[in-house]
Amino acid sequence: MKVKEQILIEEVGGKTFQVRMVEPMECGRAALTHYFHNYGSDTVEYYEDEAIRYIKNNPEYLAFNEENISSITEEQLQYLLFNFKKNIPLSSPENPHFKFIDLFAGIDGFRIAMQNIGGKCIFSSEWDKQAQKTYEANFGEVPFGDITKEETKKFIPDGFDILCAGFPYQAFSIAGKRGGFEYTRGTLFFDVAEIVKRKQPKAVLLENVKGLVSHDRGKTLKTILNVLRNDLNYFVPDPKVLNARNFGVPQNRERIFIVAFRKDLGISNFNYPEPIDKKVVFKDVKEKNPVSVKYYTYQMCT
Ligand SMILES: C[S@@+](CC[C@H](N)C(=O)[O-])C[C@H]1O[C@@H](n2cnc3c(N)ncnc32)[C@H](O)[C@@H]1O
Repeated sequence: MKVKEQILIEEVGGKTFQVRMVEPMECGRAALTHYFHNYGSDTVEYYEDEAIRYIKNNPEYLAFNEENISSITEEQLQYLLFNFKKNIPLSSPENPHFKFIDLFAGIDGFRIAMQNIGGKCIFSSEWDKQAQKTYEANFGEVPFGDITKEETKKFIPDGFDILCAGFPYQAFSIAGKRGGFEYTRGTLFFDVAEIVKRKQPKAVLLENVKGLVSHDRGKTLKTILNVLRNDLNYFVPDPKVLNARNFGVPQNRERIFIVAFRKDLGISNFNYPEPIDKKVVFKDVKEKNPVSVKYYTYQMCT
């Protein structure tokens, strides 16, 4: 069963008790939309059971009157798929060149960029409800929730090429002599590193706020690089801070980018993109006739 845990401290009869609340963690719609997105490919198996269970528990999907649906026919599935696909504003490329996963997806910058260069997203995770709504409105996919939970991680398929993550960073409790993998336990970076270790993607693309460079006098970044280079055995060129406004985007947004390549690929050199000679301001990108239902607003956390 999918569960969400919450630990509460309660006083009963003058004594303090630690109460562990266990609630079901709903991932049915996430599984269903991932199932549709992955239908026809080998990754569909990761979502199938949960998606079919969700459809059966929600008969309105099939416009049936029956209370208990024991099986779903191929025809019904095709009907659902057809309706699903026709309503996606920003759909995946028809013949993708690579597969990626989208962690800490937000609303989502990575997905648009990766889709635009021929990538297909096969898993996404984001726990903020408003961001999830925005993501669904644009990509037709509900991201899975809390990525620190095994109940979420178990849906991540094997065989994707790139892991993308714009994770919120935290200080590592002991960034001591070596500051390796185990020292990052309990942080969101640990979860990213653990997924890299398990799934061995060809490349990792991490984005973060510029503040990561100087956080904890540089120790946080040093530990992240150490884990990627020495514990996970990836080739990691020195990270670079890039400003979106130098790349044709009307926003002064400085972000650090960390890229990592699996060593067996033999990549030993990487050049970050050079600023392009094109200044863009907001009125250049403002839509003439914006469609109000297409986007939801979402307050970014960084
Ligand atoms: C810096 S934002 C990423 C923005 C994203 N790259 C974009 O383009 O919109 C980090 C995101 O991580 C999400 N997040 C934080 N902790 C999470 C967790 N444990 N599981 C899933 N998402 C989480 C936050 O809700 C937030 O949207």
